[in-house]
Order: sequence, then C-alpha cells, then structure tokens
Amino acid sequence: MKALVYHGPGQKAWEEVPDAAIKEPTDVVVRVDTTTICGTDLHILQGDVAAVTDGRILGHEAVGTVTEVGEAVKGFSVGDRVLVPAITKCGRCEYCQRGMPSHCQTVGGIGWIFGHLIDGTQAESVRVPYADTSLYAVPSNVTNEQAIFLADSLPTGYEVGVLAGQVRPGNTVAVVGAGAVGLSAILTTGLWGASKVIAIDSNKFRLDKALEFGATDAVEAGATTVADVTALTDGLGVDVSIEAVGYPETLLTAVSLVRPGGTIANIGVHGVPVELPMHEMWIQNVTLTMGLVDTVSIPTLLKMVASGRIPAEKMGTHTFTFDQMDDAYDVFKNAAANSALKVIITPA
Ligand SMILES: NC(=O)c1ccc[n+]([C@@H]2O[C@H](COP(=O)([O-])OP(=O)(O)OC[C@H]3O[C@@H](n4cnc5c(N)ncnc54)[C@H](O)[C@@H]3O)[C@@H](O)[C@H]2O)c1
Ligand SMILES: [Zn+2]
Ligand SMILES: [Zn+2]
Repeated sequence: MKALVYHGPGQKAWEEVPDAAIKEPTDVVVRVDTTTICGTDLHILQGDVAAVTDGRILGHEAVGTVTEVGEAVKGFSVGDRVLVPAITKCGRCEYCQRGMPSHCQTVGGIGWIFGHLIDGTQAESVRVPYADTSLYAVPSNVTNEQAIFLADSLPTGYEVGVLAGQVRPGNTVAVVGAGAVGLSAILTTGLWGASKVIAIDSNKFRLDKALEFGATDAVEAGATTVADVTALTDGLGVDVSIEAVGYPETLLTAVSLVRPGGTIANIGVHGVPVELPMHEMWIQNVTLTMGLVDTVSIPTLLKMVASGRIPAEKMGTHTFTFDQMDDAYDVFKNAAANSALKVIITPA
C-alpha cells in the first residue's frame, strides 16, 4: 500500500510501505476513505515532536471502512463505516475509566498514538488497536466530509474550550484564534447558549469565517483588542476566554479578557514557557484550564452533526487526492494565504 512517511525534519514522502495488518486480536484494519492534516502534523515535520522518528506514517484523523477484524473484536465487522479518532483508548486503565483516555496507560501513556507512537492515517489503510473501545460507527446520514472533523478539531474546540471553560446560558465568550480549533469552539459554544461570542484573530479571512460559524462579533488582534472586547461586554470582560493559538502573547490576551469569576480555557499547544501575571490574577477568582483532548464528546457531536445542529462540513475548504498529498500539505501550511481551513484528502 502507499502512505505518507516521515523521514526526519522537513522530509516526507508518499511511498510504498508494507500493508497495514492485524497484530493483536483487538485490532481492526481500516481502509482510509477520507483523511486530513492537523497543525500537529506540521509541528512533527518541523522536528518539534521527538517521539516521531524516521519511517513513521503520519496522520491521526480518518474516516474509513473496516476491511479486517481481529478475533477478539465484537463491535465492528468488515464493511462498517467508521471514524478513527485522534485518541485511542483501551477502556480499562485508570485514565480510561475516569473518562480521560487522553492519558490511556495501556496504549503508551498517552492516548494520541496514530502518526506519533504507531503508524497513522495518511495512508491507504491503517491498523487500529483497541477497535471496540476506540472506533465510532458513522451514522448513515453523516457524510465522510462531515465526520472527518470529529476525529480531532471539533472535539478539541468543544472539550478543551467550551466544556472546560464551562460556558453557560447567557455567558459572554471570547475565542482568541479562529483556526480550525477556535472555529470549532465557536461552532459549539452556541449549544450552551452563549449570548455573545467574540472571535479574535489577526487574519481577516478567519474573522469572516468566524462570523459565518456563529460568532456575534469579530475583533482584529492588535493594540486595542482588550479595549474592544471590554467595550463589547459592558466594560466587564468575558465570562469565558478561550485560547486557540498557542503563543505566550495570545494566552496573555486571553487572560486579560476575562472578568472576575470567569474561566480561561487554554487549548493552544505551547512550545515555550509562558509567564503569567499571577500578582494580578490571584485576586480575580479566575480559573485556568488546559489539557489534551479526550475525544469522548464524539458520540454527542455525531448526533449534533446528524441532526444538522453542527454544520461540520463548513470546515473543509480544499479537496485533494492521495497522490496530491504534497499539494495538500502546501495549501494547509500556508492556510491563511490560501483562504484554507481544513483540507479533505481522499483516495481518488
Ligand atoms: N489541546 C489539544 O488537545 C489540542 C488539540 C489540537 C490542536 N491544539 C492546538 O490548538 C491550537 C489551534 O489549532 P488550529 O489547528 O486551529 O491552528 P491554526 O494555526 O489553524 O489557527 C490559529 C489561528 O490563530 C491566529 N493567530 C495567530 N497569531 C495570532 C495572534 N497573535 N492573535 C490572534 N490570532 C492569532 C491565526 O491567524 C489562525 O487563524 C494550536 O496550538 C494547536 O496545536 C490543541
Ligand atoms: Zn490533531
Ligand atoms: Zn486506557
């Protein structure tokens, strides 16, 4: 089969590799019908993720069809259309039982294993461990182009942003960064009845998208961001401030937007330490949350997509085939310049 193989910083190739095969009785093999690229894949290609070594097949998001089933698998059969999420879970370890499979002990101490600790989904086929507890059947009225965004970006914006931030009816919410993840938070904040959702980004195209995705206001990131958001919230600041970029300055912006008693929900993956103004924050009764997505909200999100409440398909702006993998990466890497959000990649 063919797959996108990582060959060290800056190097990848769509090349011939051994076929994906069952190794454990709890595995299935899934033929990949749709995959996509995540910002994390770009970090890996920059050499930022040391655990990913030469020869690893990239990718941790897929929708596909089961082609082989291990003998212990009970819930899936050949031919089933399934969502392969970014997080794999054994279902039995301390963290899985606590509903926190992001730290599944059985699969390697961290639930994100595809394209990281084992071969990933940017391939014609992928081996899926712990299939019974990790895969999701895709309802017939949800398309592959909708379901693919439930593998990672939608649950991330929802769980690490909206749920961790405890958005409640009437709340005012700021989302710093309107990329796929920030837009996912914007798309799902309304489900909890936020009265105002303020998108903040430095990119005009992303701000326009944010308004399309349900933001009530768009603020261009800059010197007046805090004043602009304060003015939009009766001088109080927001109840929930979601950070979806991953830079020290954007977390500091998110912190400066929250009102006393509010929550700052950090989603961004940070590459360097951030110095926080604790001498000002301690007296504000604020909560700061952070974490790796668990993807446990997928069943909820699938229902909301199926019923039309979440238009997940809006996330896909460009479509490519497997043999255009390099072009897909180029467009995604320069997403802002290409008016791109997420790319959809299919066999042909
Ligand atoms: N916690 C998790 O489990 C988890 C999972 C997936 C992704 N993430 C992280 O979430 C973050 C967002 O992911 P994404 O895929 O949406 O990234 P993205 O690069 O597509 O989006 C980031 C957005 O931030 C904007 N931006 C850049 N600098 C800014 C600034 N100074 N002020 C305001 N906006 C600015 C960009 O224009 C862009 O629209 C990343 O850090 C990613 O690694 C976290
Ligand atoms: Zn990802
Ligand atoms: Zn586990």
